[in-house]
Amino acid sequence: MSNKENASQKIKKAWPTKAAMDQVYELNLWGTNNGAFYSGSGSHNPEIVNPYIEVVSSFLQSFISPLVVCDLGCGDFNIGKQLVKYTKSYIGIDIVSKLIAYNKENFKAKNLEFNCLDIAVDNLPVADCVLIRQVLQHLSNTEVQNIVAKLINFKYVILTEHLPNGNFKPNKDILSGQGIRLKTQSGIDLLVAPFNFKVKQKKQLLAIPLKANKGVIVTTLYTVF
Ligand SMILES: C[S@@+](CC[C@H](N)C(=O)[O-])C[C@H]1O[C@@H](n2cnc3c(N)ncnc32)[C@H](O)[C@@H]1O
Repeated sequence: MSNKENASQKIKKAWPTKAAMDQVYELNLWGTNNGAFYSGSGSHNPEIVNPYIEVVSSFLQSFISPLVVCDLGCGDFNIGKQLVKYTKSYIGIDIVSKLIAYNKENFKAKNLEFNCLDIAVDNLPVADCVLIRQVLQHLSNTEVQNIVAKLINFKYVILTEHLPNGNFKPNKDILSGQGIRLKTQSGIDLLVAPFNFKVKQKKQLLAIPLKANKGVIVTTLYTVF
């Protein structure tokens, strides 16, 4: 085999995101929960989850008329299930069809629905507020860009991302899948290139440092218009 052929074989090929996320859940790549779907410790560790629920539920309760909320990449719904009661209606969306079928079966409320969609490709439902929690960190810049183009339709976007400690070079590209930009000392900043998300206001709601210098989970509220 020539050197050129050898080198080209080493270039990693992107899997379709749906196949990659299906595999994450089938092989329990983010951990396990007695055979049920499991979206990772970021969705279950009380030190990470409880402050998030507190800050987002108080935001949702600050409105006289409850908001319609769309949860993009809702995962195993350990987070979302605690927020439904503070909304007018809650739409949980994920790319993994078996996970959505499981959620439909296991989480029921009059104001709750689930849809299986690829948020980088499909049209999104109409809502007042988007929650997008530890999703963009797994996606390529092309997909993040496609999602940002749709976020302009929502008045409020509450974004949670796992970021490196201290200063970092934002938005290094990755292949979509199980891993995140942290490996390359990078993380998402939607307000700078190549995304340049235009918002009226930005407010950091929460920053939870992880042990052993493993980065920080940051939640930011963007008021879009
Ligand atoms: C790390 S989990 C976070 C789950 C949940 N947001 C939470 O914080 O508990 C990321 C979720 O995003 C979903 N996801 C990734 N890419 C997606 C896409 N393009 N469209 C819809 N869901 C996607 C995955 O299937 C997975 O359930």
